[in-house]
Amino acid sequence: MSVTLAFDVYGTLIDTHGVVSKLQNSVGEQAQAFSETWRDKQLEYSFRRGLMQNYENFAVCTSHALDYTCRYYKVALTKEQKTELLDSYRTLPAFEEVEDSLTRLKAADFRLYAFSNGSADAVETLLIAAGIRELFLGVVSVDDLKSFKPEPAVYHHFLKQSGASVSDAWLISSNPFDVLGAMSAGMRAAWVQRSREAIFDPWGIEPTLTVASLRELPESIG
Ligand code: LAC
Repeated sequence: MSVTLAFDVYGTLIDTHGVVSKLQNSVGEQAQAFSETWRDKQLEYSFRRGLMQNYENFAVCTSHALDYTCRYYKVALTKEQKTELLDSYRTLPAFEEVEDSLTRLKAADFRLYAFSNGSADAVETLLIAAGIRELFLGVVSVDDLKSFKPEPAVYHHFLKQSGASVSDAWLISSNPFDVLGAMSAGMRAAWVQRSREAIFDPWGIEPTLTVASLRELPESIG
């Protein structure tokens, strides 16, 4: 059977810091730091909701994290500015090498899926806006289970939904917590180290493969 690739979405295919130019209008030169705090809090809220078994979808985590970040940076955004930022989160850009790399992987007979903390609807919207939806066989969302990565059940859910066996499935993610989650659920995983400064968590488990961008995948995954 062909190898199945589960692509993480936010941070791996889609650039979550694509909101920075919009943020510059409202928060000025703190935009980059604001964007990083927003993203970190969004993930923290998803982890905490998973542990608390108090699920709200990822868009709610994103919205609450934006409110937190405004308080942290003492920025008062109007309701309209918040709505505009959250709307732009629904159509963030893909990283520049994504379309070409996925096209090559598809041509090489890999089975491509998007696999995300985002709801299926939010992920479909993002992939369509980025012009890459047709490259995927499907979208698998944690929303089906009302839980979040890195709970093992969500990786098993991906395998079931995609019809892949654990030995034929890879997670592709720039998020170290996601790589560790997939590997501890038995999958292989490629870490996309999108910047030289990115650090892989020192847990004594190394990614099956580390690449600097998706461009390296067709030659590296067998
Ligand atoms: C996702 C988050 C982890 O797309 O970025 O699942």
